[in-house]
Amino acid sequence: MAGASGKFITFEGGEGSGKSTQARRLAARLQKAGIPTVLTREPGGSPFAERVRSLLLDPATPAHGALSEALLFSAARADHLDVAIRPALSAGAWVICDRFMDSTRVYQGYAADVSADVLDALERAVIGATRPDLTLLIDMDVKAGLARAAARRAAGTEKREHPDRFEGRELSFHETLRRGFLDLAKKDPRRCVVIDGSGSEDAVAERVYAAAERALGIA
Ligand code: TYD
Repeated sequence: MAGASGKFITFEGGEGSGKSTQARRLAARLQKAGIPTVLTREPGGSPFAERVRSLLLDPATPAHGALSEALLFSAARADHLDVAIRPALSAGAWVICDRFMDSTRVYQGYAADVSADVLDALERAVIGATRPDLTLLIDMDVKAGLARAAARRAAGTEKREHPDRFEGRELSFHETLRRGFLDLAKKDPRRCVVIDGSGSEDAVAERVYAAAERALGIA
C-alpha cells in the first residue's frame, strides 16, 4: 500500500525500451485527466539522491563492487522516498517513478552478485510499506531495444548526462536483465504488468494507459 490516497506507479525496462518516454507521457495524461501527478526518477529525484546519482553514473568513479553499488542506490532511494515520494503520496498526488526497486534486484542481483537475502533486507529497511501500487515493465526484444537506443544516439535526440555504463556490454548481459525483469514480474503479478514495448510510441502509450486504467481505475 502506498500513501493515504495517491498511487505509486513505477516504470522498469531495459536499454531502448522507451520507458522514460512512456513515464513522461503517462504523467502528462494523468495530469490532463485532473490527477495531481509527480514525475520522478531513480537514481535521483531529491537533491541528495541526485548527488548520489552523479557519483554512481560518473565514469570517473573508481571501480567498486555490486554490494557497494546496491547500498548507494538504496541510500539515494531512502532519501528520495522521505523527501519526495512519501510526501507527494500523502498529499494525494500520484507518483510516477522512472526505475525503482526492481532495477536494484535486476542490475545488482540477477546481473551481479548481491544475494536475494540482502536485497530483501534493503527493501524492508528502505521501502517498508511504500511499495509501488503498479509496476509497468516495458518489455522489448533486446536487439531491437539496443538498435533503437543506438538510433536515438545517432540522431542526437537523447540528452546524454553521461556515457552509458552498459552501452558496450555484451548481448547476453542485456538478455540477463530482460529475463530478470520478466522473472520479477511473474513472481509478483498483482503489482507488475508486462507491456509490449514494440511498435510506435503512441501504440505503447495506449497499452500503458489501458494497463493503468485497469489496475488503478482512473476516473
Ligand atoms: P539512466 O541514465 O537513468 O538510464 P536509463 O535511461 O536506462 O534509466 O541511468 C540509470 C542506470 O542505473 C541504468 O543503467 C540502470 C542503473 N540502475 C541500477 O543499476 N540499479 C538501480 O537500482 C537503479 C535505480 C538504476
